Amino acid sequence: MKDEASETKNKMKIVVIGGSGLIGSKVVNILRQGGHEVVAASPKSGVDTFTGEGLTEALTGVQVVVDLANAPNWEDKAVMEFFQTAGRNLLAAEKAAGVGHHIALTIVGADRLPASGYLRAKVAQENLIKTSGVPFTIVRSCQFFEFAKGLVQSATEGQMVRLSPALMQPIASDDVAAIVADVAVAEPSNGTIEIAGPERIRMNELARRFLGATQDPRKVLTDVHALYFGTELNDQSLVPGDNPRLGTTRFEEWLSRSTA
Ligand SMILES: NC(=O)c1ccc[n+]([C@@H]2O[C@H](COP(=O)([O-])OP(=O)(O)OC[C@H]3O[C@@H](n4cnc5c(N)ncnc54)[C@H](OP(=O)(O)O)[C@@H]3O)[C@@H](O)[C@H]2O)c1
Repeated sequence: MKDEASETKNKMKIVVIGGSGLIGSKVVNILRQGGHEVVAASPKSGVDTFTGEGLTEALTGVQVVVDLANAPNWEDKAVMEFFQTAGRNLLAAEKAAGVGHHIALTIVGADRLPASGYLRAKVAQENLIKTSGVPFTIVRSCQFFEFAKGLVQSATEGQMVRLSPALMQPIASDDVAAIVADVAVAEPSNGTIEIAGPERIRMNELARRFLGATQDPRKVLTDVHALYFGTELNDQSLVPGDNPRLGTTRFEEWLSRSTA
């Protein structure tokens, strides 16, 4: 009886901004399975953090907000405007509603690659959170396995894929979602945690394995000077520091599952 009462007490009302996205939809499912009342919020459901539409209504009586939105346009100026405006609107609405925990998903090493407009915008998003007065946890993730396709595409020159051999520690989106959902029901840390996959792999090798598994004839050309989001990489650029939380899915396992 006592357990049942504390179970009920621990159920929370949680809004997932970007709840229709790759990570957002998985987080919504996990939290619902945990018995929480979860609202998946995004422009398609009438909640727009950029314009502010629907925010006040969506946040009424909410204890936790998980921000998993992504910008529709990654051009330098547009992406900065998106994360700054959406961040300000969302955090102001959370403050007014008395939200007790804001969680956001950003990127490992974002501050090490300032030539990237996208990563500068993610750092700006983090800074708004840190100064908002809303209790928070920032989750910095390494690249998702699902990012391999876009990575290969953006580095393609004819039949060649020109990529840096820099180390990465990518993670499956399922593992990202599981950790984010776990963080959402924990106390705010008012700090940043890093999350990564179980093993390190070089970027050129990741692309090679992805092309092989998808029977794509393009060949990887290794170039230490190849740019990634406008910047040359080294072996420290994309990997986490000490003690990241690790996903368990290995890249090979994900590849064979997703190409089956
Ligand atoms: N890709 C990576 O390797 C990587 C690594 C680390 C961190 N991240 C971060 O992870 C987060 C989630 O990425 P994802 O790939 O899951 O995103 P995604 O699949 O592209 O989904 C984007 C979501 O954002 C919503 N959205 C767009 N504009 C919005 C607005 N004005 N107001 C509210 N919601 C809005 C979309 O809603 P609609 O469906 O209604 O349009 C959708 O639900 C991003 O912040 C990204 O920076 C990505």
